Amino acid sequence: MKITNICCIGAGYVGGPTMAIIAQKCPNIKVMVVDLNQERIALWNDADVTKIPIYEPGLSDVVAEARGRNLFFSTEVDRAIEDAQLIFISVNTPTKTYGLGKGMAADLKYIELCARQIARVATSDKIVVEKSTLPVRTAEVLKNILEHTGSGVKFQILSNPEFLAEGTAVQDLLQPDRVLIGGDTTPEGEKAIQALVDVYANWVPNDRILTTNVWSSELSKLTANAFLAQRVSSINAMSELCEKTGADVNEVARAIGMDSRIGSKFLKSSVGFGGSCFQKDILNLVYIAKSYGLNEVADYWEQVIIMNDHQKRRFANTIVQTLYNTVSDKKITFFGWAFKKDTNDTRESAAIYVADYLLNEQSKIAVYDPQVKESQIQKDLNYLETRSLEANKKGVTCFEDPYLACQEAHAIAVLTEWDAFKSLDWQRIYDSMKKPAFIFDGRNLLDEKKMRDIGFVYQAIGK
Ligand code: UDX
Ligand code: UDX
Repeated sequence: MKITNICCIGAGYVGGPTMAIIAQKCPNIKVMVVDLNQERIALWNDADVTKIPIYEPGLSDVVAEARGRNLFFSTEVDRAIEDAQLIFISVNTPTKTYGLGKGMAADLKYIELCARQIARVATSDKIVVEKSTLPVRTAEVLKNILEHTGSGVKFQILSNPEFLAEGTAVQDLLQPDRVLIGGDTTPEGEKAIQALVDVYANWVPNDRILTTNVWSSELSKLTANAFLAQRVSSINAMSELCEKTGADVNEVARAIGMDSRIGSKFLKSSVGFGGSCFQKDILNLVYIAKSYGLNEVADYWEQVIIMNDHQKRRFANTIVQTLYNTVSDKKITFFGWAFKKDTNDTRESAAIYVADYLLNEQSKIAVYDPQVKESQIQKDLNYLETRSLEANKKGVTCFEDPYLACQEAHAIAVLTEWDAFKSLDWQRIYDSMKKPAFIFDGRNLLDEKKMRDIGFVYQAIGK
């Protein structure tokens, strides 16, 4: 089958960029991205292409090229489903906040809703592709719902997990390490796999397109994220030991990273990993392992999360201890709120937890992040339900100017590794702060010598 019409349900950080690149690279395929969220769709359609709701370097150019040609954004989900031969499901699968598996299992209610909607609307055969990261065997849920419609319409379910990292989404999509497609080993399944392979083959070399059975594909995504997160937690565990022994974690990372068996990537010690995937996917893995009675396996992976929580708390603790054991009414300026640079995504960002801890110590927090809006910061804090909305509003003030954010501050905490922070006028910042002026560099971003020469008391992770 030759695909000429694609629909994607979910215009988020995964669905949006992925579909934009498919549309750019396959001008003969019509790509319709739909979402329940009207505001989000309106932003994707904004005449000013810099207003698109997701910040990713290079993305607005791709959208500018393809939008209106063969890339469309809409809230008309039913019609898009009806028209498409191939439907990506890219809705969010947050960790459950209620009931069985609370705090661990993935909440599949949106996935199920999508499946039911597809089942209700479809009048011709469809290939349904899981793009969201899902616990192993979710395809079975989709299959069950789709096969019992009684309409005679045939569905093939594929798993095609997305490996893009935020901040580098466009590059990752243009030149992926691999594209993974899982499907049934039946002749119909193989045909469906081939149809999706042909879409990617428009720009991805054949030896980078991997096909497997559905379950291997689903589990590979969880495994990839668990391995990556584990590396960050491992180097962060060493960072604490470095601080006690006089070793420098950057030097240790460089030394072990040159071992080709270990490799240099994902060895940057930090205030802790964040993002929508690592924690959620590991908790998922832990939950699946537990449900099979594999307690040692579950504990092994859970430790990655425990270490990450420890790292965030430890960073906050260091701030309090260094500021003479009290931060009450002291102004602490956060540089960065996003979970990493080059994105406006704040899900599970370490900054949220560090702020929460410091607010409990009655500190006054000022935030400067080049891409995150004040409303998002308040939302993130309110979501924790630690204190009232008013208390969060009073405790945290946002600034659009980094210099204003630092005036009269006792300390600066670097929470996101935005490149722009490095080239600020640090002398000017120093002059406007209370003395002694502290920097707690949670990303090992700034030049240690330069900061000390200016007069800052500078502390980084793992040194
Ligand atoms: C999500 C998951 O978090 C991730 O695990 C998965 O790999 C891909 O999907 P992301 O794209 O970053 O990642 O999520 P988000 O930015 O929240 O986008 C999901 C979109 O789906 C939202 O815009 C939401 O409005 C939309 N949605 C959700 C629907 O259109 N219909 C629904 O029923 C539910
Ligand atoms: C991750 C995976 O990389 C991607 O393949 C998957 O599809 C989704 O999850 P993402 O969450 O966008 O992508 O960001 P990533 O670059 O992996 O960073 C995750 C977190 O780990 C960030 O908070 C980052 O700052 C932190 N990190 C990463 C470190 O602290 N040190 C490192 O060396 C690398």
